[in-house]
Amino acid sequence: MTLQRPLPRCLPVLAALCCALASPWLPQIAQAAESPAARADGALLPRDSRDAAVFRGGLVYANYCVTCHGINADGNGRAARLHNPRPANLRASDKNDDYIGLIVRRGGEALGRSARMPPWAEELTDEQIQDVVAFVRSVNVHAEAK
Ligand code: HEC
Repeated sequence: MTLQRPLPRCLPVLAALCCALASPWLPQIAQAAESPAARADGALLPRDSRDAAVFRGGLVYANYCVTCHGINADGNGRAARLHNPRPANLRASDKNDDYIGLIVRRGGEALGRSARMPPWAEELTDEQIQDVVAFVRSVNVHAEAK
């Protein structure tokens, strides 16, 4: 008995159908490749961007911060009630990016605040910290500032 399955006989029909369906978009696809956004090295998007950092930072946030600071970053995470003082409302925070990076890296206690905010320098890379700061900034009321 062979494990290889014979190709379905309808394959040529399916292939023709796909080509017919895709054909209206082919000019657009070709145009996108030639658009000004296309770079010499063939990438269609910039290698990195603020949006990409915010996206990556959202993943860091979802893994390390959400239980305390909450899905809406308003300080109402599932474990928030276990902490006194309560986790900060990151949407409303008036702190600048440097301060946010610092408290994430070194924790609350090192900055004269509560040890309930843990230090993350041992867990997260510098890039992850920069990304999570970008994420916090993106959901903060001062989204453009600082
Ligand atoms: C174990 C719960 C807990 C976790 C997990 C946690 N925090 Fe906190 N965080 C706190 C608490 C509590 C405070 C408030 C400390 C205080 O008021 O002294 C705080 C404060 C902060 C502040 C200060 C905000 C301000 O306006 O002063 C920032 C920024 C912050 N956290 C970001 C983060 C980020 C980013 C993560 C994930 C990497 C994270 N925290 C994970 C509990 C937590």
